[in-house]
Amino acid sequence: MEPTDWENRIKELEKENRILRKKLETSETERSELEALNQKKEYLLRSVTEEFRDSENLLKARMSTLEKALENQQTMQLKLIEAEKMSALGILVAGIAHEINNPVNFIYGNITYVNDYTADLLKLLAMYQERYPETDAEIEAFIEKIDLDFMREDLLKTLSSMKVGSDRIREIVLTLRNFARVDEAEKKPVNIHEGIDSTLLILQNLTNEKPGYPAIKIVKNYGKLPNIECYAGQLNQVFMNIINNAVDALREREKKCSLGEREAKPSQMEITTSIISGNWVRISIKDNGMGMNETVKGKIFNPFFTTKPVGHGTGLGLSISYQIVVDKHGGRLECISAIGEGTELVIEIPIANSRS
Ligand SMILES: Nc1ncnc2c1ncn2[C@@H]1O[C@H](COP(=O)(O)OP(=O)(O)OP(=O)(O)O)[C@@H](O)[C@H]1O
Ligand SMILES: [Mg+2]
Repeated sequence: MEPTDWENRIKELEKENRILRKKLETSETERSELEALNQKKEYLLRSVTEEFRDSENLLKARMSTLEKALENQQTMQLKLIEAEKMSALGILVAGIAHEINNPVNFIYGNITYVNDYTADLLKLLAMYQERYPETDAEIEAFIEKIDLDFMREDLLKTLSSMKVGSDRIREIVLTLRNFARVDEAEKKPVNIHEGIDSTLLILQNLTNEKPGYPAIKIVKNYGKLPNIECYAGQLNQVFMNIINNAVDALREREKKCSLGEREAKPSQMEITTSIISGNWVRISIKDNGMGMNETVKGKIFNPFFTTKPVGHGTGLGLSISYQIVVDKHGGRLECISAIGEGTELVIEIPIANSRS
């Protein structure tokens, strides 16, 4: 090859080299552009995934709130149905109590006469026997057959136990009528002590002695109170809720302590009523049960708050009581309690209040 050919060839090669370098540069730029784009896409994908995860969490949280709300609503519905049933039951009970009242009074009123007549007849019989000790064989046989001496002794006892029985029925009928007051629509002046007593009587099966559990001692310190203007039926519900809770707390403590501890500090509920600041009444229901800590105490009036096992408490008793005392009667409901010390629930309401 001629030198010029060489030179030309070199020039050509240099040119090719330049072109190739140019191409390389371009593809390098393209590559880095692509890389940048890729990074962008990756970043975008990551943030989309994160957003997706966030919204998934949000959705889960909403779902659980909704589930809780649904659950609460179902419980509330059950409670409302229960309240409605109770009110229907109240009307039925009041009706039956009213119907029983008459015949029972009939028996109760007449027992005194039967008692007097029987005493007179027995006296007459004694007089006959004294004056005419000689009787014929038939009478003697009959006296023996009916065991007259025993009958004479037992007759008055039987009558007096019948009187005690009918007394008791009268008391129960009165209690039922008192408790199932169907006067929800308006406020009436009532004797609060009667309400508390009927509630205690109705809950007697809970406070009575049970195998392994002694009876809960009820101490009543009733003050002299005038009639209180209130929704008696609703206030009885409040007494019922508070006394029920006290029984639960007492039985719970009994379960946890030994027989010796139980005997040293028997379960007791103290109910005290008094007048405060002239025109308010104060009703305190105090138990020496297991009490509660500050955290629980702060929540007891919240709807659905319960520390009882599933199926045992709805957690509505005290929130409903609060509503009745505070909203319906313009009163106050307070709780004093300490772990191991017991609990006191204090209801305060105006004697004559204007709220409706
Ligand atoms: N006398 C008490 N001693 C100790 N704890 C109590 C007492 N009264 C209420 N509590 C606490 O307050 C909680 C709420 O009471 P509340 O009456 O509102 O609901 P509940 O008794 O659990 O259920 P429900 O009354 O609806 O059947 C109870 O679960 C319990 O932890
Ligand atoms: Mg309760």
